[in-house]
Amino acid sequence: MSEKKLLSIGIDFGTTFSFCCYLEKGTVRSLIPVTEIYGIPSLFYDDGKQKSYGRIAEKKLSNPRTAKNVISSVKRRLEESGYLLTAGDRCYTAKDIIREIVGYMVQGAVKVAEETYQIDFSKNFRVEAVVTVPVGFSEPQKKLIEEAISSIIMPNGTHLLVRKLLPEPVAAAIEYFGLRNKQDEDILVYDLGGGTFDAAWVHSNKDNKKIAYEVIDQEGDSHLGGDDWDAEIAKWLKEQYLADNPGETMSKHDEAYLCRSARELKEELTELESTSWELDLHGNVSEGELTRKKFEQLTRPLLDRTLQKMEIIIQRQGGKKPNHIILTGGSSLMLQVQAAIRQKFSGVDVRSINPAHAIANGAARYADWLQQTPVAQDKIQLISSHAYGIGYHYDDTNQTEIRILIPRGAKLPYSGTAKSYTRYKDQYSSSFTVFELDSHEPVDTRVPENTGREIMTVTLQRASDKSVPKGRESIETLTLSESELLSIKAVDKVADIEVEDSVSIKRNH
Ligand SMILES: Nc1ncnc2c1ncn2[C@@H]1O[C@H](COP(=O)(O)OP(=O)(O)OP(=O)(O)O)[C@@H](O)[C@H]1O
Ligand SMILES: [Mg+2]
Repeated sequence: MSEKKLLSIGIDFGTTFSFCCYLEKGTVRSLIPVTEIYGIPSLFYDDGKQKSYGRIAEKKLSNPRTAKNVISSVKRRLEESGYLLTAGDRCYTAKDIIREIVGYMVQGAVKVAEETYQIDFSKNFRVEAVVTVPVGFSEPQKKLIEEAISSIIMPNGTHLLVRKLLPEPVAAAIEYFGLRNKQDEDILVYDLGGGTFDAAWVHSNKDNKKIAYEVIDQEGDSHLGGDDWDAEIAKWLKEQYLADNPGETMSKHDEAYLCRSARELKEELTELESTSWELDLHGNVSEGELTRKKFEQLTRPLLDRTLQKMEIIIQRQGGKKPNHIILTGGSSLMLQVQAAIRQKFSGVDVRSINPAHAIANGAARYADWLQQTPVAQDKIQLISSHAYGIGYHYDDTNQTEIRILIPRGAKLPYSGTAKSYTRYKDQYSSSFTVFELDSHEPVDTRVPENTGREIMTVTLQRASDKSVPKGRESIETLTLSESELLSIKAVDKVADIEVEDSVSIKRNH
């Protein structure tokens, strides 16, 4: 039998940039062409005849005719149903666009691996990946990313296998610890990217008998990132322009132009105290100056939202301070971020790690662990980023309420069980709906139905040839695996029937 070769990679599919790499003898190797410093821009273009990606798709943004066929920041549009782009007879959902962008990146990665690292992609070569996702993403959002990436076909005809989804700030923590000697320490990661903000408290144990790294707490906001800073500045630029050119209307293309100009100004203000802007719209030119002070003032409420998330974590740790605060993500380069963190957490050591690559690098390290041990559980203890429960009808309130079976922050893997009883005689079917919640309430707490997001329903179907008494017991078990794979099992022992379902796709290994 011929040898099966395997390349385990880390993939960071970002709102603005995507990156992938692998670990070779303890050193992270980039799989992105050297010309791409930050990564591949997460952009996709199709005009019905031709598709383009990355830098080439970026060029299409400057022409209104082609700009409407460019999709950007798709990671922030996962909740949108239907097609995000229609081009000729081709239509793309958010999932299709992720498959296109990440597919383009990994096809390029294979070339880099062959040309730079002399990896021979023979017939039996397989590629598997650890893919990072924001803390705040719901199970259906994670599932969408996982399914999109799992459906990528590699040049040799094999599927790209997603071994694991890993929270982004946890991946950054793995990269940080991977570069240091092991010691007992607590770090709090602050990860501000293009579209999402995440924070995680991670503890490292020096004692080899203990699990190496433990995620203690995490928080995320999947709609808070550099894009929002750009939008604030774009709004301000629009006001300036309209003050010079009253009564003008802006098209979607003009708004996108404002956002791109805003992003350029924002990045310039990381270097400069003040920068000049010029807008050339509809033949009218408007210009002026934007100071860093004004920029920071306009965007302060956004920054405060990130600080509040950090504060929540510190409070839940009883006010304890971490040994280090680790800044990562491209938007952590903004000077206001560094200054605000240093001021708010004075006395705590603050350091930055590779803002563009730390997350993918950490994922590559995790992918390497997985190659060595099947679950990597001895290396890192992960926790649930949400709570999960089942909706039951309660007679005392005569309402459906969600009973929490997996609390937020539960150490993975985790299972929670509940018993329930049929409400009517001859009730041949019982349906159980699983909800995802942001709640921090403990296990078995009942919370209102409208505080949860419905994510799946299973139905126990009893044979209808025999009478079923009222109050017939069934047992429901919700399990969140080490890979954050959520499943439900409902059993009626008397009728000897059970039903199972899982929200995440099954991994075929
Ligand atoms: N020098 C800089 N100054 C200010 N902002 C910067 C600078 N360089 C990059 N950024 C911002 O960083 C963001 C991109 O960061 P990053 O690549 O970490 O995000 P991402 O991984 O694509 O997004 P996410 O992780 O949120 O999905 C953009 O908003 C970009 O404008
Ligand atoms: Mg990122």
